[in-house]
Amino acid sequence: MSQTHKNVTRRPLVAGNWKMYRTASDTRSLLEDIVKLVSKIATMDLVVCPPFTSLSVAAETLGRHGILALGAQNMHQNKEGAFTGEISGPMLREFGVRYVILGHSERRQYFNETDAQVAAKAQAAVGYHLRPIVCVGETLAQRDAGETTAVVTSQVRASLSGFPVDQLEELVLAYEPIWAIGTGKVATPQQANEVHLNIRKLLVKQFGSKGSDIRVIYGGSVKPDNAAELMAQPEIDGALVGGASLDAKGFFDIIESARSARASEND
Ligand code: 13P
Repeated sequence: MSQTHKNVTRRPLVAGNWKMYRTASDTRSLLEDIVKLVSKIATMDLVVCPPFTSLSVAAETLGRHGILALGAQNMHQNKEGAFTGEISGPMLREFGVRYVILGHSERRQYFNETDAQVAAKAQAAVGYHLRPIVCVGETLAQRDAGETTAVVTSQVRASLSGFPVDQLEELVLAYEPIWAIGTGKVATPQQANEVHLNIRKLLVKQFGSKGSDIRVIYGGSVKPDNAAELMAQPEIDGALVGGASLDAKGFFDIIESARSARASEND
């Protein structure tokens, strides 16, 4: 495993997690602004994950362009049922959704989502042809206590427990240190790369050589001014962007950083 070069078989991925921002009527103009800036980049996957209520208008807006794929921010593992307030995989597929963020720290923290639920959701997602973006990450207290490796290791193992090996190419992992989310406090590129490297080793241990092809992206205060350095790290395969993805130019600049990091690898 190279420490200094990216594995070029892993296609970079930049996803915008809009969280609970933007109504359906605001969605169209933001997406149109993004689409105007972003031309089709054949070597990268670009994803936007608006709220559920914006998926319909987002699908309609993006459908005409085919530049950005659509993602959701959560999903229930069952196909249907008496689960008030929940949304299933087939419901997402109907809007052309291709990706789904699972186990985001805000879901774990505020809605008590467990690793076991995340694992069940990830398996269900691939069954519905949705690509799971499974999130892991430690709190500041855990980092300060020297527990980062233990926490992330346990989350990765448990959240991917039972994940079908023949669907690994669909899987994306996101390392999002909780202390860096929405705080403006970004992990240094070296801190992030170190955790990514540990995740990579775990994936290879859990899934064999196929584990080296799974994309591991970074999230937590990724901004236009820090993206280039983060994206240049050998084990960082892209970004999961929160706040900065709500600004078309900011999101575009981050995409450009990921693109240049890949282009320089190909030189
Ligand atoms: P920020 O980029 O706003 O820190 O959010 C990161 C995040 O949680 C993406 O899922």
